[in-house]
Amino acid sequence: MLLPKPKMHHLHMCLLCLIALAILSYFVHQRPSWVSEFKEAPPEGFNQVQSWKTPLYIVVVCCGQRVQETLVMIKSAILFNYDQEYLKFVIFTEDGKGEEFREKLTDWRDIKPFTFDFEILPLKFPTNNEVEWKNLFKPCAAQRLFLPSLLTKVDSLLYVDTDILFLSPISDIWQYFKKFNESQISALTPEHENENIGWYNRFARHPFYGRLGVNSGVMLMNLTRMREMKWEQHILSIHKEYKLRIIWGDQDIINILFYYHPDKLYIMPCEYNYRPDHCMYMSICNMTHAGVKLIHGNRGYFHSDRQPLFRSIFEAMENYQLGSNANTQFLMPLREALSSETASTCGKISNEVLKGANKVLSNRYMDV
Ligand SMILES: *[C@@H]1O[C@H](CO)[C@@H](O)[C@H](O)[C@H]1NC(C)=O
Ligand SMILES: *[C@@H]1O[C@H](CO)[C@@H](O)[C@H](O)[C@H]1NC(C)=O
Ligand SMILES: *[C@@H]1O[C@H](CO)[C@@H](O)[C@H](O)[C@H]1NC(C)=O
Repeated sequence: MLLPKPKMHHLHMCLLCLIALAILSYFVHQRPSWVSEFKEAPPEGFNQVQSWKTPLYIVVVCCGQRVQETLVMIKSAILFNYDQEYLKFVIFTEDGKGEEFREKLTDWRDIKPFTFDFEILPLKFPTNNEVEWKNLFKPCAAQRLFLPSLLTKVDSLLYVDTDILFLSPISDIWQYFKKFNESQISALTPEHENENIGWYNRFARHPFYGRLGVNSGVMLMNLTRMREMKWEQHILSIHKEYKLRIIWGDQDIINILFYYHPDKLYIMPCEYNYRPDHCMYMSICNMTHAGVKLIHGNRGYFHSDRQPLFRSIFEAMENYQLGSNANTQFLMPLREALSSETASTCGKISNEVLKGANKVLSNRYMDV
């Protein structure tokens, strides 16, 4: 109580000095590392911020001898992801295939940290009616129809078949979600552009969407809206009624569903699901200026000589080492392979097909 005033004053001064010293040392020690952190981050490269972005889900179902094909698809999505979206791959697959995926994807995640993540799930069916779901068709073909109730925490996703390759950033196709009006729940591309070679208009024994049907190899799904409309109940009742008349499994079911609900489907242009049918007789997909966005080697075209354009693109992507220079290690070998490929009808328009890919990859280096 009776402490002399001057002593009290000294005490305060000391305390202030200590605080000042502490603040000073904080800056001396903290600042340099903060500055160098900035320097080390590649100016256009990815950084940890990526993993806080909302992931864009890419979902694939892999059965049979399609692990390698699926991995090449995933590689293409990562390679073309120049808009630096954070990708999340969800792979539904049979027993015994998970390890091969995990090994490769873990390697790639080390090469391209913070750009993507993945989840490997067993073939799964909604538990409330498992037996009925499982027996719909082959388990793998039915899997995608049940994504709304399997991925309950996911709002929307891009489903692709295993024989799809990205030739554009995922953000190009993802922008279509924003174009949906209030009733649309999904986006697909037409099955055909031309009545003379269309399949559904000539052969189908069930109703189908639009004039020529839709192809289901590339499908944007707003799962929130699909759950709201009780998508899976529709699937079940369609299957009950049409099971003896469907040929192409899940794609036919989807076509029948959107025949009854055309207001719920958004149609994307053909370059988002470019198939041999678009060029094997004549060029029937109007790509305008942007070239092909996603290419679909359906019916085995990535692995056959029938239209070498498809096999060449697949092989160039398969041989490309993630992280290496995309221009010299992917585009140049591909151009080389295609330079001799002018005899086939699809090969003739390879420049047009690859216009967008060239533009994205040519003068840009994402390599860290
Ligand atoms: C999907 O639909 C829900 C409900 O209408 C909406 O809130 C959400 O933003 C949509 N997702 C996308 C990616 O557009
Ligand atoms: C959304 O677009 C589709 C296709 O053009 C149309 O059939 C449907 O009526 C539209 N829905 C609304 C709510 O405008
Ligand atoms: C291709 O699309 C462009 C732009 O939409 C259009 O101007 C052109 O007429 C179309 N060409 C054909 C052959 O349909």
